Amino acid sequence: MQVIIRPTEEESTRIVATLVANAIRANPDVVLGLATGLTMERVYALLVRMHREESLDFSLVRTFNLDEYVGLTAEDGRSYHAYMTKHLFSGINIDRRNTHLLDGMAKDLEAECRRYEDLIRHCGGIDLQLLGIGRDGHIGFNEPGSALYSRTRDKSLTPMTRRDNAKHFVDPSQMPHRALTMGVGTILDSRKLLLLATGESKAAVIAKAVEGPITSRMTATAIQLHQHCVVVADEAASSRLEEQDYYRWIFDNEPEWAEFR
Ligand code: GLP
Repeated sequence: MQVIIRPTEEESTRIVATLVANAIRANPDVVLGLATGLTMERVYALLVRMHREESLDFSLVRTFNLDEYVGLTAEDGRSYHAYMTKHLFSGINIDRRNTHLLDGMAKDLEAECRRYEDLIRHCGGIDLQLLGIGRDGHIGFNEPGSALYSRTRDKSLTPMTRRDNAKHFVDPSQMPHRALTMGVGTILDSRKLLLLATGESKAAVIAKAVEGPITSRMTATAIQLHQHCVVVADEAASSRLEEQDYYRWIFDNEPEWAEFR
């Protein structure tokens, strides 16, 4: 795992957006795994700007989102379908037939999850998976207790996740109790992982995800098992990491990071 610590939210976000843009330029039909949440909104705003100002071409890019709420239609403004249209897809030249999300309205949720796993496999697997992190340590909606080998399935949300995400619902009581999510095992199958965390509210969870013992109680700790994982965090989110000096030395000295210094 590589941990990149940058002074500000802006700089951390810029590195993540640039790594995604580099992956697209290196491989125009790259398969991206996409995440949602406030942290990712800023990454998507930069990618839209790169498309407009630097001709970043999404025409062949294929995408799979991590998760979707159960019981919300794609047209519902609070769904992750709507989030993706608003924050990314409507601002870039992606072919909507190449954008894939789970259907939280499917009659047979198990079959829907199987369909999604098959489709990911059919596309050759995910090349680069973007990840945010929930305050309870979830990646996707893999809440505490999710098996580290889990596949795409239906998951009940914790009270903390429901409280955190209720801010996107005018009436918080309408916040869904369940979601479909790629499993931890599905996420770990991606060729590369790129996790972004910003702000003081993520400091405790980032310290555990990066340096704590691997446990299904906090599924983000599973990223430690992955051979190509980059974690980008700002000062605030990285403030409780014990090996900070080491991570900073690598960023300041390794040629891989020269373009970002
Ligand atoms: C939701 C998503 C997660 C994401 C999290 C972080 O719970 N299902 O994939 O990591 O939000 O959200 P934020 O960036 O708003 O803190």
